[in-house]
Amino acid sequence: VIIEENSKPVDRIWRGKITFVMAAAGSAVGLGNMWKFPYIAGENGGGAFVLVYLACILCFGIPLLMAEIGMGRMGRSNAQNTFRILRRESGSKGPWGVVGALAIVTSYLILSFYIVVAGWCLYYLWITVNGQFNIPGQILDKSVTGGMFDNLLASPQTLIIFSVVFLLITFGIVSSGIKNGIEKTVNWMMPSLMLILVLLIGYSIRNGDFSAAVHFLFNADFHKLTLNAIIVAVGHSFFTLSLASGSMITYGSYMSAKSSVVKTSLAVAGIDTLVALTAGLTIFPLVFEHGLEPGAGPGLVFISLPLLFGDMPYGQLFGTIFFLMLFVAALTSAISLMEPTVAWLEQRFFLSRTRAALLTTLTVWLVSLGTVFSLNIWDNPMFFGKTFFDALDYLTANILMTAGGLATALFCGYCLKEHQLEQMFGGNRAVIVPFRIAMRYVVPLFVVVLAIGPI
Ligand code: PHE
Ligand code: NA
Repeated sequence: VIIEENSKPVDRIWRGKITFVMAAAGSAVGLGNMWKFPYIAGENGGGAFVLVYLACILCFGIPLLMAEIGMGRMGRSNAQNTFRILRRESGSKGPWGVVGALAIVTSYLILSFYIVVAGWCLYYLWITVNGQFNIPGQILDKSVTGGMFDNLLASPQTLIIFSVVFLLITFGIVSSGIKNGIEKTVNWMMPSLMLILVLLIGYSIRNGDFSAAVHFLFNADFHKLTLNAIIVAVGHSFFTLSLASGSMITYGSYMSAKSSVVKTSLAVAGIDTLVALTAGLTIFPLVFEHGLEPGAGPGLVFISLPLLFGDMPYGQLFGTIFFLMLFVAALTSAISLMEPTVAWLEQRFFLSRTRAALLTTLTVWLVSLGTVFSLNIWDNPMFFGKTFFDALDYLTANILMTAGGLATALFCGYCLKEHQLEQMFGGNRAVIVPFRIAMRYVVPLFVVVLAIGPI
């Protein structure tokens, strides 16, 4: 018996309100918070960069998160089709499906490098379990942990093995379906993750230079703020909230009509920001205590944290738990990066879920080799002065997501009709009016000034 809710079979609607928050927070909280945020904050001088990032989350991140979750729940379809359905309903014209299609391409491309970095986490989990940071008599310093990281990047085989393992686990969960796979996974993983982070920040405060970290992250010196830093902050705000990638629209399509779009969005954005700041306040005390370079780049987390695990009591245990947590955070995001393509393939070409997931997995793996080799045998800059990996990162977060976010705002602001917004927010005028203003003027203005202004 199939019971329908908004014409969608009930086995594709998440149970309860909390599950949706867990799934959406699982998508948002990931390597973006624990790996990317600390290292780009470090590279871009800290304070002022962090302030711009927080302003972006408030001014367009949260409104766009509401827009995407709301659109997803109304459309009840894949990202491309959701734009089409809502456009048709509104009676307006225009090729809006392209915006949804580009969002799917964005998540697909991100997944191809996300699995490589997640593979680093798995590798670090492996060597921590094997006690490599806790050899008796060994004194770890930044040259030792830095050397370990460089060795990892220099080995295509190791990178491929660990990224493939990660990709296969993602495949396993996505192909098991929305309830049996995704829902079951996020429901216990997200709470455990938060708990571990609280434990670690405590250690870092006691053993690191906490005041230097606070000063670095929150003391805004606008002389250090470059135009490039602003572009990176804008791009990261989209990336960290999983916007303009089809993920939130697709997850929204599985959301029960009873949950509140506004409350959910606020919860997800709040959790995501809290985790990013906590990660920063865990890593930077160690960076300053051990004389590491804050601008050390993508290796920052992997070079700094082993210093803590080599030094603290029960370091091996905590290290294991930490990298397990990083892996879990990456996994719940990777699932949401695979889902937009899989849902699209299923609905557009009537493929079974398993086939759709298999096709996505195999082709994403091929693309991921570009990132793997750009870390070693192709590590000379060949795309506009960037390596393949850096170019892909820039293309997705800073170009595709920014353009997609802007287009989504214009779509909600100028295309959707009053009755559609009413359906989206359960007729709540106190939300609809400011939402429309945000989509029409505030979000476009903010994004254009910050993203195009610097160019
Ligand atoms: N938000 C995730 C993170 O911060 C990355 C992501 C981007 C996930 C886009 C889904 C879609 O790690
Ligand atoms: Na995030």
